Amino acid sequence: MLAPVRHDTQIVTSVTHYTNRLFAFRTTRPASLRFRSGEFVMIGLMDAPDPETGRQKPLLRAYSIASPAWDEELEFYSIKVPDGRLTSRLQNIKAGDELILHPKPVGTLVHDALLPGKRLYFFATGTGFAPFASLLRDPLTYEKYNEVIITHTCQLVEDLTYGGEIIETLRTDGIMQELLGPNLVQLKYYPTTTREESPKMGRITDLISSGGMFADLGLPAFDPASDRAMVCGSLAFNLEARGLLEKAGLREGTRSEPGEFVVEKAFVGEGV
Ligand code: FAD
Ligand code: A2P
Repeated sequence: MLAPVRHDTQIVTSVTHYTNRLFAFRTTRPASLRFRSGEFVMIGLMDAPDPETGRQKPLLRAYSIASPAWDEELEFYSIKVPDGRLTSRLQNIKAGDELILHPKPVGTLVHDALLPGKRLYFFATGTGFAPFASLLRDPLTYEKYNEVIITHTCQLVEDLTYGGEIIETLRTDGIMQELLGPNLVQLKYYPTTTREESPKMGRITDLISSGGMFADLGLPAFDPASDRAMVCGSLAFNLEARGLLEKAGLREGTRSEPGEFVVEKAFVGEGV
């Protein structure tokens, strides 16, 4: 007989809606949950009762933990898919509601999958910002690297709000600055949009290929000796980003065989 799936129920403590497609929420954290910043867990709600048996099962989806490992609560950043089985309901959660959490964190966007380096790039599109919201708030990120660069590409300016607020807090909150140390001043934020006018427009992949990103940030081209990267976005984006990094001589790593970059899907698309 299969062992029953273990799941814990946590309580939602706050919800913030950013756009009609994006929101973030925080929950209590099980005392036993240990994770590495950048990992994901399965979360969800009880599904509608089976029409024949009346039984209810948990409906779970993979979610990056957006809060850092030191935070006493958990934070998640979520899409609202209009007819999505989970998010059509999850978008209505309120403080005090229950959330199911399967406490088994996993994932490739973790520091120990990368060889030591000097400069760390985080490349995100859409909700792919979530694991980096965790890593950007982790002191280890600034202990390991002299320079940290986060790029975030979205269709619209409003889609950048959650990420922008996290960067703003890192730059202005005295406690964060004390916690994250002097290397925090080396944090560079590079937001771009593709379907609405903004100070920087274009897909990050095009801005890397053209050299525009390096020129804008005052950085040299990728160097496998010093540069490390983490990539999180749609499958098409991840494939293009992987190609660009490999062309520059960086090799993909895993926790068992660390390398110069790591990649994870922000979601699984239709038919993938
Ligand atoms: P689903 O039936 O799961 O998806 C329906 C369709 O919606 C998909 O086929 C896809 O085209 C689209 N879609 C799903 N998720 C997204 C997304 N995030 N951005 C854009 N389009 C999407 N989602 C988050 O919102 N935040 C996260 O931190 C997050 N982390 C993930 C980590 C991993 C490793 C993976 C594999 C997925 C992650 N997802 C995340 C996606 C998440 O698991 C669900 O797909 C999402 O919550 C939608 O669930 P659903 O049941 O409403 O729709
Ligand atoms: P674009 O608007 O040109 O498609 P989505 O919301 O579809 O996940 O996209 C999030 C962001 O990622 C959008 O700005 C989108 O640009 C960009 N994007 C999508 N596919 C790629 C890709 N293959 N390479 C680079 N950027 C991409």
